Amino acid sequence: MVNVTTAHTRRNLVVGNWKMNGSRAANAALLNDLHAAGPFNGDVAVCAPFPYLADVALALQGSRVAWGAQDCSAHESGAYTGEVSVGMLAEFACRYVLVGHSERRAMHAETDQLVADKAKIALAHGLTPIVCVGETLAEREAGQTEAVVKRQLSAVIHTLAHCISQVVVAYEPVWAIGTSKTASPEQAQAVHAVLRAQLQAATEKAQHMQILYGGSVKADNAVQLFSQPDIDGGLIGGASLKAADFAAICKAMGSTRA
Ligand code: PGA
Repeated sequence: MVNVTTAHTRRNLVVGNWKMNGSRAANAALLNDLHAAGPFNGDVAVCAPFPYLADVALALQGSRVAWGAQDCSAHESGAYTGEVSVGMLAEFACRYVLVGHSERRAMHAETDQLVADKAKIALAHGLTPIVCVGETLAEREAGQTEAVVKRQLSAVIHTLAHCISQVVVAYEPVWAIGTSKTASPEQAQAVHAVLRAQLQAATEKAQHMQILYGGSVKADNAVQLFSQPDIDGGLIGGASLKAADFAAICKAMGSTRA
């Protein structure tokens, strides 16, 4: 696999994915403790469940921590019961939205094209989509890792064309999510280099794009992961629910970039 990056030229980003966890009281305490632990040497954001977003936006007013949603509809508006549009999120000045998380691909049958359509509509409303890609254990064992992540990213590149440079990509091997089986820094870097090379073929801005690693990132493995040349931070699930753990991961950015 090729490594197309020789220097750290990008800002790091750490994003907490709360998934379907939290309560108004727990979220307020978490954000309060996170604020007290900052500021951090890089960008930080939290992606909360829909009902809490307005609370989170209020709690983070004036803070350097940004916030985002965990999903959005691929449609502008209309008869899509239960869906949330990016226009609605944009009204609250939402900054990021996760698209194509493996839990949504697996449990909600999201296709590569649907994920790409969500990324496109998010960008059209001024949100930054965080496009998640990653292989299952069976796919890795069958030697298909590279083909799978390239196929997933290729749908987004094809749909966004030159706007691809405005997305954040997150490599999240499915076998590493919530399992405590983190990809080794070398395994993760190898896939990140493949993704960056693919982006490079699509945009001259590929060297400026953030590619995050996700999958059992913890305080004790974050520094090693984030110091890889093509890893620009992390997408954090379980460890983002405890302020001390999440803050320690956010601080790991400071030790890896100038
Ligand atoms: P994890 O989840 O950190 O709990 O493995 C990561 C994710 O699903 O985004």
